[in-house]
Amino acid sequence: MKSIAIDGPSGSGKSTVAKALAEKLGMLHLDTGAMYRMLAWKADAAGIPNDDTEVLEKLAGRLQFSIEGHELRESGAPLPAAIRAQQFAKAASVISAIPGVRKEMQEKQKDLAIRYSLIMDGRDIGTCVIPETPYKFYLDANVEERARRRYEQGEKTRYTFEEVLVAMKERDTQDMNRAIAPLTIAEGAIVIDNTNLSVQETVDLMMEFVEAKDAL
Ligand code: DC
Repeated sequence: MKSIAIDGPSGSGKSTVAKALAEKLGMLHLDTGAMYRMLAWKADAAGIPNDDTEVLEKLAGRLQFSIEGHELRESGAPLPAAIRAQQFAKAASVISAIPGVRKEMQEKQKDLAIRYSLIMDGRDIGTCVIPETPYKFYLDANVEERARRRYEQGEKTRYTFEEVLVAMKERDTQDMNRAIAPLTIAEGAIVIDNTNLSVQETVDLMMEFVEAKDAL
């Protein structure tokens, strides 16, 4: 089966439903946001500032991603849990706008999609990484609901709801307005607003579309 593209803003449930779909369909899940977060984490560890485009492009080129079992690895090692922190979400959003960084990452993602049948979630999957796939989704939910999900998922130990909401709005603006591969609805994508849907309802809807495409 061809790979499946799921794009959408943060907190729209992409990773959660991608995991569930991967299990149902016997495919692997590739969280492309984790790849940008990993670069942001490595840059931070090496003291490289987010505006040092030349060094960041080189660092991106040196990352070696693989999927072992069901796990995304970099240079053979599992990705650190710390990449999930809001600090790295923010940094990933900034450095993912650097053209050379994006080129490197998109190439790595395309390579993985050639080797495996993937459920890929991100911001530019249906528009740039695998535009040829017949299976494209764009997940959305209103920004308060998305911030509430992030807040409940753990940020409440460190931030107020207001802070999570402000950070999310900033990231939306950045991801949707950058010059290269901005977050946008891919041609032919099925748009699902899951503000009032459960994870199960979203997955069921997506399965219906995948099965309907398969039947054509
Ligand atoms: O999905 P996420 O929140 O983990 O992604 C973190 C940031 O990485 C996001 O704000 C923008 C960037 N990103 C991207 O530009 N393209 C992707 N395919 C995935 C993530």
